[in-house]
Amino acid sequence: MKVTVVGAGAVGATCADNIARKQLCDELVIVDIKEGFAEGKAMDLMQTAQLEGFDTKITGSTNDYSKTAGTDVVVITSGIPRKPGMTREELIGINAGIVKGVSQNILQHSPDAIIIVISNPMDTMTYLALQSTGISKHKIIGMGGILDSARFRYNLSKALNCSPNDIQANVIGGHGDTTMIPLTRLATYMGLPVSHFADEATLAKVAADTMVGGATLTGLLGTSAWYAPGAAGAMLVQTILRNERRMVPCCVSLDGEYGQKDICLGVPVVVGRNGWEQIVDFSLTESEQAAFAKSADAVRNMNEVLSTLSL
Ligand code: 2OP
Repeated sequence: MKVTVVGAGAVGATCADNIARKQLCDELVIVDIKEGFAEGKAMDLMQTAQLEGFDTKITGSTNDYSKTAGTDVVVITSGIPRKPGMTREELIGINAGIVKGVSQNILQHSPDAIIIVISNPMDTMTYLALQSTGISKHKIIGMGGILDSARFRYNLSKALNCSPNDIQANVIGGHGDTTMIPLTRLATYMGLPVSHFADEATLAKVAADTMVGGATLTGLLGTSAWYAPGAAGAMLVQTILRNERRMVPCCVSLDGEYGQKDICLGVPVVVGRNGWEQIVDFSLTESEQAAFAKSADAVRNMNEVLSTLSL
């Protein structure tokens, strides 16, 4: 198995670190445009191999995609992260060209690769990767919902004073401060609805905090977060390479599901060795469905910006 992580910044390096520690593949290539940077990250990570006890061979490459040939899964993290006060959407002008170029370069050397998109604005970057490569929709997955759901579970666990591991909860819709939809109604603590343990106001605050989870961290850190985004990317790689068929909320191309088409948006999907296999219908209520339609409108507006850029 071979994995490529494009972008050796904080998210890419953390993702690579998780992939190596979990021994998810034999070969891991890190690519970056900054001269020597990916090579340095790869060397630093390889020097943890004996300490962590993994055998994955990690190499770095400065923009030479021939080194990525034979990749099974690629994680695209490249582009600029947001600064405090910025929305993910403001990154589109710079990141769109990067994501398009990276997707095409990868497929030139690994036509069968499954593409995981982390770069922001993630829903639009996933859509762009699909449009600009023309590969099967099942092979392009935007990661955002796994991260947002991990944040939702963390926030719920704090409100319920329990372990995040005992919480089941999902965020669907867009990966944006106003477009994500934490599905509180379906969230459970060991199978029991969370409403059994917390009042409406508390749960409303948990949902609101979850939606601005990334922005809160950007304010604290001065740049966007990396531990959870990197770990979420690695979790998705694991689900694919080990054919786990986990059900995870991810950004995928919709063709009528959840009432939307010609868009990539977060919905629950079953993911295995061939990419995303199936979209699961959560039977949304009228108000949840309305929120999903509103989220789709916002993401569609962002997708339309793509045609104004010279990519
Ligand atoms: C986040 O929400 C990087 O978009 C990512 O932290």
